[in-house]
Amino acid sequence: MPRLFSYKDFASGSPTVEAFANKHSPIIICNLEAKRDKPFNVKVKIGKTIKHPNSPEHHYQYIQLWSLETLIATVKLERASFGDLPVHVEANFTFIPKVSLRLIALAYCNKHGLWQSEEVFIKVKE
Ligand SMILES: [Fe+2]
Repeated sequence: MPRLFSYKDFASGSPTVEAFANKHSPIIICNLEAKRDKPFNVKVKIGKTIKHPNSPEHHYQYIQLWSLETLIATVKLERASFGDLPVHVEANFTFIPKVSLRLIALAYCNKHGLWQSEEVFIKVKE
């Protein structure tokens, strides 16, 4: 089992440590309510306010969206598509929910490992 990192693990550290966690943290952006059996859109952005490097040696490789133990989707990132400069990498997920969701995004940096977002609860209504 790989170690999972999260922003809160580092948020109370020095400014350098906080910045390290800030630029690695996946952020879930979506409505907090969804309609059952209708397409629902979720955006995952990497980095709260600080952009992450995107060099050949140091970049994000994939983003996953989970609801509890269910993997909803994986987006494999092609680094060159985002250029060589630091960037807020983003991935968009669209799926059809059946039940309420407890979303967690996981994202993998090839140098600093697997990072998880905060959990977001989505109420699914008729
Ligand atoms: Fe990194």
